[in-house]
Amino acid sequence: MNHKIAPSVLAADFANIQRDVELINNSEADWFHIDIMDGVFVPNISFGFPVMKAIKKHAAKPLDVHLMITDPDRYITAFKKAGADVLTVHYEACTHLHRTVQAIKAEGMKAGVALNPHTPVQVLKDVIEEVDLVCLMSVNPGFGGQKFIRNTFNKVRELKEMILESESTALIEIDGGVGTDNAKLLVDCGADVLVAGSSVFNAENPVKTISQLKKLETIVKSS
Ligand code: DX5
Ligand code: ZN
Repeated sequence: MNHKIAPSVLAADFANIQRDVELINNSEADWFHIDIMDGVFVPNISFGFPVMKAIKKHAAKPLDVHLMITDPDRYITAFKKAGADVLTVHYEACTHLHRTVQAIKAEGMKAGVALNPHTPVQVLKDVIEEVDLVCLMSVNPGFGGQKFIRNTFNKVRELKEMILESESTALIEIDGGVGTDNAKLLVDCGADVLVAGSSVFNAENPVKTISQLKKLETIVKSS
């Protein structure tokens, strides 16, 4: 399967949001990754519905919405209305994860579950067949621009095995610290979707970087 690239809008220029959305429209990117933070589940606040609706208005590709919020069940319908195509909740934020996943799918969205770096992939064993996407956090959620946690490679391999052993069609998404230095290895381990924020928007040529991520060209920057 061809892997997908989902640039994270969190790293875009919010004063020029239409310009940056058009940039992604005109690139080889597959999805828009939208990070919603509530200041409770994670120690940061990002943006809410007005900004998301503004992005949706110009976006020509699916919105992959990552909810870093407590009790996400309260907002499932609202995120559908705001234009989410994939809605991902955190395992750590859901007491009744199976029910939450069903509620997302009942709204006609793809259902994703995100795992924090400390959460083992095995916790998803009994729900994996219901899930459309698993987002492995490769940094602690809350901020862009953090260093990739290398244990993620092991988690991708383990999750891939779990998916292959079950009837699941879940995609494996990697979020945090992804760039041209680690994209190829992640896909080789079994990743299907790569989220990239700062490595795309801080690049001199974001469209070119997206293309390199799509082609899995390995470019290691000297630090
Ligand atoms: C982190 C967010 C990420 C973030 C990734 O909490 O979930 O999506 O935007 O940013 P980079 O690619 O800069 O690590
Ligand atoms: Zn994210």
